Amino acid sequence: MTPDPGSHAVTRPVTARRSGPLRGQIRAPGDKSVSHRALIFGLLACGTTEIAGLLEGADVLATARACAALGAKVDRLGEGRWRVEGVGVGALLAPTDTLDFGNSGTGARLMMGVVAGHPVTARFDGDASLRKRPMKRVLDPLALVGARVLESAEGGRLPLVLQGAREPLPVTYETPVPSAQVKSAVLLAGLAAPGETTVIEREATRDHTESMLAYFGADVRVVPEGAHGRRITLIGRPELRPAPVRVPADPSSAAFPLVAALLLKGSKLAIEGVMANPLRNGLVVTLREMGARIEVLDERREGGELVEDLVVQFSELAGVEVPAERAPSMIDEYPILAVAAANARGVTRMRGLSELKVKESDRLAAVADMLRAAGVEAQIEGDDLIVEGKGPGGVPGGGTVVTHMDHRIAMSGLVLGLATDAGMAVDDVAFIATSFPDFLPLMAGLGAEIG
Ligand code: S3P
Repeated sequence: MTPDPGSHAVTRPVTARRSGPLRGQIRAPGDKSVSHRALIFGLLACGTTEIAGLLEGADVLATARACAALGAKVDRLGEGRWRVEGVGVGALLAPTDTLDFGNSGTGARLMMGVVAGHPVTARFDGDASLRKRPMKRVLDPLALVGARVLESAEGGRLPLVLQGAREPLPVTYETPVPSAQVKSAVLLAGLAAPGETTVIEREATRDHTESMLAYFGADVRVVPEGAHGRRITLIGRPELRPAPVRVPADPSSAAFPLVAALLLKGSKLAIEGVMANPLRNGLVVTLREMGARIEVLDERREGGELVEDLVVQFSELAGVEVPAERAPSMIDEYPILAVAAANARGVTRMRGLSELKVKESDRLAAVADMLRAAGVEAQIEGDDLIVEGKGPGGVPGGGTVVTHMDHRIAMSGLVLGLATDAGMAVDDVAFIATSFPDFLPLMAGLGAEIG
């Protein structure tokens, strides 16, 4: 059915050294959030969904296998081109084997929502990183829908067995944390419930599930709620119609070569087709405030999402204060923003980062440790991260970054090393394959010294 997601058993240490200018034109891999959802909506639509530009990273491949285990026929037609023959809402098959989501919180949590609305029982598991991550944030609202956890590790963690509801109930649920995964799990469960399912979020998070629900023909309404939030209402039991999905380039992956180009003198890099959804572009907003030269060449709509081509040039950056309200629009980008901040003049304070503690690693601690290993002062004060910038090219380097099975820490550590005299070692780059399988050759092609 699908290529194997691959094994992370082999750790691969590498070193990034001071590099000359990065030059060239690239396209980042397909967006991870949209890729997971394209497969899941393919499973839930009746008929054939064609996907182009799918991210073929280990996380998304795990979701493809789970879709197959729940009854879809999933075929790879060519590079990034996939076909899913779905079963339709209400018609999932009970999986015979454990659904293994590897390193992926998104895959596991969204699929818990799908299973919760169906009369099937499934065992969910993942790697050592995913087994540490909180699942109660989705299991609590899914219990209101009628799903039951039959077994779990301590605190509702993986591995766990989830029994979906025979008669799922529509709920109104206010998410206690700003999380698109929690919101999406409730909406996906609500697809199988009669009547209206409503999710209220105090701070708007990425809206790909709502957009794709509408795109596949569901009746979904989104209205503002309070100063920064939204209220999303879905009418359950729609017949989802298959629709072709073209996955835009992932801004969270584009962020790594983008920041590398900002830090290396003489760089000029064009990045094509990057998703510019306002709920995802907090990094570009922040970097511009720091003085980054990022030019937008062509803004357009592709497959329902706003995308743009970017041209990035070496820039002298200055420290800024990043407000807490911006966190949901750049939640995965703080590790690489911290690398930019280390190379800026002055102090950068990033506020309200509590959610970083429950990502693929405790990213707040991992980022502070990474910077300290490079000779940069970094403090954690409550949920804030404070970085004392060394100025352009001023980070000494010479240490080792501990990645904790976290792809974004690995890529951030490598970009950090590119702008140091002494270089930076990164203890394990194997996990980069979860989201950006071609990162190392792509960076080498631009002139980065990694190896
Ligand atoms: C994602 C939501 C975010 C993000 C993750 C992808 C999604 O997680 O960090 O990489 O696709 O819905 P949370 O929902 O936990 O904030």
